Amino acid sequence: MPTDADPSDSALSVQWPLAQPWPLHPPQRLVVLASGQGSNFEALVAACRSLSLGGQPHGGQRLAAQVVLLVVNNPGCGAEARAARLGIPCQLINHRDHPSRASLDDALIAACQQAQADLVVMAGWMRIVTPLLVQAYPDRLLNIHPSLLPSFRGLDAVGQALAAGVQLTGCTAHLVRPEVDAGPVLVQAAVPVLPGDDHSSLSARIQRQEHAILPLAVALAAARLAG
Ligand code: GRF
Repeated sequence: MPTDADPSDSALSVQWPLAQPWPLHPPQRLVVLASGQGSNFEALVAACRSLSLGGQPHGGQRLAAQVVLLVVNNPGCGAEARAARLGIPCQLINHRDHPSRASLDDALIAACQQAQADLVVMAGWMRIVTPLLVQAYPDRLLNIHPSLLPSFRGLDAVGQALAAGVQLTGCTAHLVRPEVDAGPVLVQAAVPVLPGDDHSSLSARIQRQEHAILPLAVALAAARLAG
């Protein structure tokens, strides 16, 4: 064990094991929040239905995790259509119907509680969350972001990376804290920026890695909570 720990380490790395393990009853119940195309949502559903999150491809056995609900904030978004195709219940909670971020988060908490969520995954959820949601799901709220955090927080991380001229970027799955795109990293994947890359080609390369690391991050978060 290193003895020269920096005090800032605690904000960057997950505490393992937890001081007080959260009692969990498998299968883990996942609620996914999405605003756009929902490709990460679909990757998570596929992982739950395959061996990578402990399920059995041809049924019969209990899954280690299952997506029990998709919440979208944009009516008609791609994620909504994917949920219909995949047979996952989908609930619209339109932020335009809420006067404040706190009011939106109250509605999200109610939906997650109703769904008896163990973990809540922000998979392309393009709303800033308040401490209300973070505190309702302590260490059980995950986010995926298309950069190697702490680089390129906030909007258009891919554009930020291209503008900065970096040769290496990537994606991060992390536990959510009240600060935007902050919190202990669960999994990161590095992605090269290749000569001739534009926004579209780099985004696609990053997204393929997001689809790989998000299920892994869910597995880690769940294992950590189980103690
Ligand atoms: C992902 O790249 C995610 O990192 C970002 O929004 C995108 C969502 O893509 N926050 P999708 O909706 O999962 O296809």
